[in-house]
Amino acid sequence: MYSTFQLTKKFIQYFLTASNGKGHGVHSPFVYNFIEKVLTDKKEYTCYSTIEAQRKILLQDETVIEVEDFGAGSTVIKTNKRVVKKIAASSLKSKKFAQLLYRIVQYYQPKTIVELGTSLGITSSYLAAGSTTTKLFTSEGSANIAAKATQIFTNLKYTNLTLVEGDFAKTLPPLLSSLQEIDLAFIDGNHKKEPTLNYFHQLLQHSTNSTILIFDDIHWSAEMEAAWEQIKKHAKVTLTIDLFFIGLVFINTDFKEKQHFKIRF
Ligand SMILES: C[S@@+](CC[C@H](N)C(=O)[O-])C[C@H]1O[C@@H](n2cnc3c(N)ncnc32)[C@H](O)[C@@H]1O
Repeated sequence: MYSTFQLTKKFIQYFLTASNGKGHGVHSPFVYNFIEKVLTDKKEYTCYSTIEAQRKILLQDETVIEVEDFGAGSTVIKTNKRVVKKIAASSLKSKKFAQLLYRIVQYYQPKTIVELGTSLGITSSYLAAGSTTTKLFTSEGSANIAAKATQIFTNLKYTNLTLVEGDFAKTLPPLLSSLQEIDLAFIDGNHKKEPTLNYFHQLLQHSTNSTILIFDDIHWSAEMEAAWEQIKKHAKVTLTIDLFFIGLVFINTDFKEKQHFKIRF
């Protein structure tokens, strides 16, 4: 992974070269709509405070749990015994990005969502809250972390989500076969090049013309940047949006020419 200094340098570079979404720079009506209706929507949706209250509980949870180390995810804690509040502080998507995921679901209304990397269940909760008719399948390898996430889902009373426990290598193929088509996927676990590309290729086999694939931490390391570049080049990918901390991938054949956007968020 990149050092904080390297990452800050990369972020500044992104910030200076990214479009602010206004005026010139964005010639795609689809992307313009995404910016206007989703990205810059400042409304305070009711679920925001309800889910953030659960994050607050996790940020104060002193319980020590045994955690299996599956991937390159955590940059802060190295041991197998972890304090829940430290996981909550270091592994979860910020409020800003988690709420963007909610708005993406709310706006595009995907029927089936797959999330790789539940952790304590905060992004899963936002994804599930986006639409009551959406079915979310979220996967987590660590049993004790999954148990904590289950508690959060119970507290929030979400019934449209299923937690699939186990290593993605074992759980993803049967999950995808059982679901057939995926409308949205959030890939937020095992931030290494080959696994990320592997998940991308598997998800692609179950995609439709309107599927959205969202990759986390695309600039986190040289490996993740290499994976992101390879994904962008794939023949089926027709549009990408780089928001630095996440990258959105569209494979919609209605977009005639391949376009890659970098948008300030
Ligand atoms: C960054 S956290 C997910 C955070 C969550 N999406 C959020 O923002 O609320 C990544 C999670 O993926 C899990 N993970 C990583 N690699 C995995 C693998 N190969 N199989 C199963 N789980 C894995 C880790 O245990 C960790 O809890």
